[in-house]
Amino acid sequence: MRILVLGSGAREHAICWKLKQSPIVTQLYCAPGNAGIAQAAELVSDLVATDAKSVIGFALRERIDLVVIGPETPLAAGVADMLDEEHVPVFGPHRNAAILEASKAFSKEFMHRHNIPTARYAVFTAPEQLEARTFLRHLNYPAVIKADGLAAGKGVIIVETEAEAIDTMDDIFSRRIFGEAGTRIVIEEFMEGEEASVFALTDGIDYDTLIPAQDHKRLLDGDRGKNTGGMGAYAPAPIVTPAILEQIRREIIEPTLRGLREENRPYKGLLYVGVMIKNGRARVVEYNVRFGDPEAQVVIPLLQGDFAEILLACATGRLKEHLPLKHFDATAVTIVMASQGYPESYETGKMIEGLDHFNQQREIEHGVAVFHAATKLDELGHIVTSGGRVLSVTAIGYADELQQTITTAYNAVHEISFDGAYYRADIGHKGIKA
Ligand code: AMP
Ligand code: GLY
Repeated sequence: MRILVLGSGAREHAICWKLKQSPIVTQLYCAPGNAGIAQAAELVSDLVATDAKSVIGFALRERIDLVVIGPETPLAAGVADMLDEEHVPVFGPHRNAAILEASKAFSKEFMHRHNIPTARYAVFTAPEQLEARTFLRHLNYPAVIKADGLAAGKGVIIVETEAEAIDTMDDIFSRRIFGEAGTRIVIEEFMEGEEASVFALTDGIDYDTLIPAQDHKRLLDGDRGKNTGGMGAYAPAPIVTPAILEQIRREIIEPTLRGLREENRPYKGLLYVGVMIKNGRARVVEYNVRFGDPEAQVVIPLLQGDFAEILLACATGRLKEHLPLKHFDATAVTIVMASQGYPESYETGKMIEGLDHFNQQREIEHGVAVFHAATKLDELGHIVTSGGRVLSVTAIGYADELQQTITTAYNAVHEISFDGAYYRADIGHKGIKA
């Protein structure tokens, strides 16, 4: 089987690493990839993932049997639709389903139509500011204001007072801090509770959930500081008890997949449900239409079975043959090593030392895999940093021994170094029962 993976982060490294373990995979390409992914796949550095025509050209020329789309932007650009038209099997939803992530207003209205539990909300455009102000007057605070469109994870602002809410609305509508993404806003109720990420693999009809995980989105220990793309993750997350997972399946995932079918929005791939859990019940914070990063780096290693066959089955409507999905009875922790200054400005091109200890290729049930997020080879062939989040250092350990798995992951982090490396010191601690 010949596979093309689109994307360049640690998520795509984890996807390639897992695909590489499949005996049926004869050729694995990744576009554009990074220096770590190059250890598992052949890079196609000049292929632009959002350029559907080039992706199709490559897929047909190279007789690709499956395209796996990692990030949301190619999905929102309709790359999956066009591959489907050319009968190239693709793991990833159509554009009119990817809008679940690309438009927060759409996703709230979708949840409303299909009776899916989420925070109460209203949607406003710039000409509706008077109505929005009336709405803000009667809202409880804190409240949440979100830009409608894709804003690289920065489009969500929590406001403590009505005055702050009005200022925020002005920032979005008048000063256009989110540009086009802020043409519409969602104002919603603030949900208390604890967040978790639940992924479902689906062919549009059948589905199964993967092991629930928790992300650590804030920059500093204790969940303080700025929001980031994610500083680490662990799985399984005990906050998602079997009863809560069952509720998420019945009240969120199943009505979502049913609603997508009813509205004729083809969904083959991964549905990511970000939930807020309080008093034993989950409500939706957001949908994403692809694997989460860094959650993928802990969830994918825990999945048993042939990953290539499972993803192809999602793409071709045959997932049922693989259900229920099986998982290793283990714990996984990933720690993001970032460049000093991330998520603001930072330097790149720093040489990374200590990577040689870690073998990326072996199937690990217990051990360490270092997934690369932003690395490249310099002219001398050294691996150097090339972005904000640089590495995602992942340990797999025994079930019920999360503390030991956390220690294994940090021991690996301590063996790796680059100038200005920053990481959180408390990844996974919220999973340890008091
Ligand atoms: P989103 O991009 O919608 O996932 O929002 C980013 C983050 O903002 C989430 O991961 C939550 O931590 C927080 N958030 C978003 N919506 C709400 C809400 N209604 N109540 C509480 N926190 C929220
Ligand atoms: N971990 C959050 C995201 O992938 O959006």
